[in-house]
This record gives sequence, C-alpha cells and structure tokens, in this order.
Amino acid sequence: MTTIVQMSKTIGDILAQPTTPGYSLRTFAGPADSYAWLALRTAAFAGETPTTGIWNQAHFQREFTDQWWWRPEWQWFASESTAPDRVVGSVTLALRGTPEQHVAVVHWLMVLPENRRHGIARALLATLEQTAYQAGYRELRLETHVNWRSAVRFYESAGYRPIEK
Ligand SMILES: CC(C)(COP(=O)(O)OP(=O)(O)OC[C@H]1O[C@@H](n2cnc3c(N)ncnc32)[C@H](O)[C@@H]1OP(=O)(O)O)[C@@H](O)C(=O)NCCC(=O)NCCS
Repeated sequence: MTTIVQMSKTIGDILAQPTTPGYSLRTFAGPADSYAWLALRTAAFAGETPTTGIWNQAHFQREFTDQWWWRPEWQWFASESTAPDRVVGSVTLALRGTPEQHVAVVHWLMVLPENRRHGIARALLATLEQTAYQAGYRELRLETHVNWRSAVRFYESAGYRPIEK
C-alpha cells in the first residue's frame, strides 16, 4: 500500500493579502534562518509518525540552497508579532523537474504544535499561492504522508485533492 499522498489544486488570483491576527510573515533573510528552519522542523514533526529524522545545515543546503529553483523570497517564516525572532511556521515554494519542464510544489509546510489552529498555515499557504500565481503558475502540487492526518485535513480544507493515478 502506498503511503505517499499526492495532491494538487488549480490556483487563482488571491486579491487580499492573507493575514493572521497576532502573527506576521516574512521571507528568508539569511543564514540564521536556516538554523531557525531546522529547529522548527524538529519540533513540528516530533509528534508525527513516521518521524523525519534530525537534519543539519548540510541537509538544508541540499534541500534548498543548492537547488536550481531556490529563491530566498520563496521561503516564508511566520512569527508572533510580539516575538519576531521566534519562528513558529514556515513553507517553501519549490519547483519539481527541470528549468524547462517543471511543476510548482508546496514544500515543507509546518507550524509549531503550540501555535496550531490559529490560521498560520492557511496564511503561509495563501501567500505561497499568490506568489506562484504571480509567477505564472496555475497549478500547485504537493506530497504528504497518509499518516500525517493534520496535514491531509489541512490540505483538503485548503482545496487540494488527491491526484488520481
Ligand atoms: C498541517 C499543519 C501545517 C497545519 O497548521 P495550522 O497552522 O495548525 O493550520 P491552520 O490553523 O491554518 O488550519 C486551517 C484549517 O485546516 C484544517 N486543519 C488544520 N489542522 C487540522 C487538524 N489537525 N485536524 C482537522 N483539520 C485541520 C481546519 O479546517 C483548519 O481551520 P479551523 O482551525 O478554522 O477549523 C500543522 O498541523 C503541522 O505543522 N503539522 C505537522 C507537520 C506536517 O505534517 N506538515 C505537512 C508536511 S507535507
């Protein structure tokens, strides 16, 4: 049985910039953000099965900054407005394929357990969708795990549907 769920959504123009009261979003601002992302990943997936293993700087580099599609303005970080240095959520817009032929994908969406159900993921995803739309993409894809129930439910609530094989 396959445990990977592939989902997609046709995206349209999002006229209003999504906001979540009490939180603010910004994009990747430098090397310190790679440490913040790694710490967030460890905490966000700690309660998930299967677990994701501990990553270090080399993993971050391989996953993001070494990739042909990487752009700092395509990685977002959420923080509480009163604590801008503490990252509580993140998502990355990635491209899968080659520069000539590729699809846009939602990559590594995650929110700290104690900050969930405040609309942070919704705001992060809407910002990513708006950016993808403005860059000319009309479809977004993603992969998640069938056992990551919060993620599957979240993506369904955001309009993503399983890709029929
Ligand atoms: C999935 C995840 C990013 C959602 O983050 P979040 O900030 O809590 O999500 P939001 O508050 O924006 O939720 C928006 C809507 O999604 C749905 N949703 C989110 N989490 C849900 C859950 N656990 N169960 C059911 N529905 C859920 C709800 O409809 C929710 O709206 P509501 O709170 O008004 O009912 C977060 O649970 C997480 O980090 N999970 C672990 C990491 C992970 O699996 N990432 C995805 C990897 S592919």
